[in-house]
Amino acid sequence: MTTNTDVLFRPFRIGALDLPNRIVMAPMTRAFAAEGVPGAAQAAYYRRRAEGGVGLILSEGTVIERPASRNDPGIPFFHGEPALAGWKQVIDEVHAAGGRMGPQIWHTGATRSGRHGWEPDAPVESPSGYNAPGEARGEAMSEEAIADTVAAFASAAADAKRLGFDVVELHGAHGYLIDQFFWAGTNQRTDRFGGGTIAERSRFAAEVVKAVREAVGPGFPLILRVSQWKQQDYAARLAETPELMADWLQPLVDAGVDVLHCSQRRFWEPEFPEIDGETGLNFAGWAKKLTGATTISVGSVGLSGEFLAAFGGEGSTSVGLEQLVARMERDEFDLIAVGRALISDADWVAKVRSGDADGLKGFDASALGELV
Ligand SMILES: Cc1cc2nc3c(=O)[nH]c(=O)nc-3n(C[C@H](O)[C@H](O)[C@H](O)COP(=O)(O)O)c2cc1C
Repeated sequence: MTTNTDVLFRPFRIGALDLPNRIVMAPMTRAFAAEGVPGAAQAAYYRRRAEGGVGLILSEGTVIERPASRNDPGIPFFHGEPALAGWKQVIDEVHAAGGRMGPQIWHTGATRSGRHGWEPDAPVESPSGYNAPGEARGEAMSEEAIADTVAAFASAAADAKRLGFDVVELHGAHGYLIDQFFWAGTNQRTDRFGGGTIAERSRFAAEVVKAVREAVGPGFPLILRVSQWKQQDYAARLAETPELMADWLQPLVDAGVDVLHCSQRRFWEPEFPEIDGETGLNFAGWAKKLTGATTISVGSVGLSGEFLAAFGGEGSTSVGLEQLVARMERDEFDLIAVGRALISDADWVAKVRSGDADGLKGFDASALGELV
């Protein structure tokens, strides 16, 4: 039986931006940008998702102007004239197809490349010189490096607006630079960017958000992606209680975030089951309840297996959307991001809309090998 998915196709508004439905394309690194410059291939790839009916497209992570801000040579820059000209082509084509889009602005911090063992020319930088707790890598950032990094995030966001993008997302999740400040295991600073509480370790992110908000002005939708889990430790948690989650997220909303993009590997997992049970609110649900901000959820929508297994070559079969629809009907969160299903099939949204359950393909990891 086909699930009625009408609830996913209600329009939504973020500030002055109208979205035709609740489906967001999750940011996914594809690493096909030769010399860090996106071009016709990326423009066609994102355009196809716009034509397929995605409500809001988030780009692959694209990095700010710092000497070691990326950990893979195929990651696109979001600075410098050639890369920005490529991104202009991307947003123009997405708009021509009636879509809406924002770049995911990123700094990979001290994390290693997942694929090549590739190293940037300059030493990697992070709050205290750790990739993971107890795993030293690269340099601890000076106050000057922090100030320059904050400015580089702001400059990238200003460029996103100038090029015509509709939103900007900051990557504060998954154990990369901003998250390395949040995480006690990688932030052992004794200045105002460190400290024993999550509120103290959120100051770097709050400064980035403030600077970005100033750069884009009021009204331009600003999304921040956050996660409890880290690629370095799937079981890590920044906030063990709702109170700590509020300490973490409220200052960021106060600093100018409109939308919290709450990354989970499986959207149906309750965040605090000890409080509201096994069917309780997920991360995006709690973030919305605690801060009042708009939230995006994500994680294995329409698929049988979670995404990190995909990097080990594991595929997933297509599964129904009943659980998603049930949570959306309760307005637990506002938007839902879809990742691998949209790599497999640019028309995934259109097929869900038309009830073509048989047309939904699942995900084969070989799809990561080409940009189509
Ligand atoms: C190939 C690939 C690349 C990804 N790259 C990023 C990224 O650059 N930034 C990010 O925040 N998440 C990234 N993710 C995580 C996705 O945004 C998403 O949260 C995850 O795939 C779960 O959604 P899914 O189960 O629908 O695929 C990536 C995932 C995949 C599969």
